[in-house]
Amino acid sequence: MKTIELNHPLIEHKLTILRDRNTGTKEFRELISEIAMFLCYEAMKDAKLEQTEIETPLEKMKTGKLNEDNYAFVPILRAGTGMLDGVINVIPNAKIGHIGMYRNEKTFEPVNYYFKVPKDIDKREVIILDPMLATGGSAIDAIEAIKKKGVKKIKFLSIIAAPEGIKKVEEKHPDVQIYCAHIDDQLNENKYIVPGLGDAGDRIFGTR
Ligand code: PRP
Ligand code: URA
Repeated sequence: MKTIELNHPLIEHKLTILRDRNTGTKEFRELISEIAMFLCYEAMKDAKLEQTEIETPLEKMKTGKLNEDNYAFVPILRAGTGMLDGVINVIPNAKIGHIGMYRNEKTFEPVNYYFKVPKDIDKREVIILDPMLATGGSAIDAIEAIKKKGVKKIKFLSIIAAPEGIKKVEEKHPDVQIYCAHIDDQLNENKYIVPGLGDAGDRIFGTR
């Protein structure tokens, strides 16, 4: 599946502020959350609704309703948790799992340190959250871990993605739809996305 990039002036505007090195922690967090909400909105375009009958103040009508029990969000720690507030606005009753992963600074390979997901995750569509898709290593491992739990439908939401990482994830997991706010130019020698926004985790949590 070809990666879907949000292409909208409002998203570019928000990314401009997000990327700016002078943007502080509070605004950075708010923007990550807002852009995540728009990504989730886009990712729900294929959602199947259940028909239900309601009564408006004027008359009865048949209309569609989302069964929120069909969904789970799984942020990749740490930075993915910054997207949680935004997506929960869209599907408030979705369950939430967590995957703990950080990138080894020398090998750039992901190191797993935590995994906890809802018991019935195999019955849900899973939406994995991570603002940065760089080499794709973290995304590939996270998707594999979720697939091992028997999940059939997975989507991956990222704010900024590198072409190199997208290619790797698309090759390894062609059944997983990736959504991102922007596909940037490339990775630098330290496997950071350029122009990018720097270290997402550090900017969300103010750790550097
Ligand atoms: C960042 C980011 C992704 C990963 C992307 O996490 O949030 O999880 O790197 O890189 P990759 O595509 O090359 O695997 P980081 O290792 O900085 O951990 P953190 O979220 O705890 O800061
Ligand atoms: N992780 C980040 O936070 N930023 C990048 O550019 C790459 C990996």
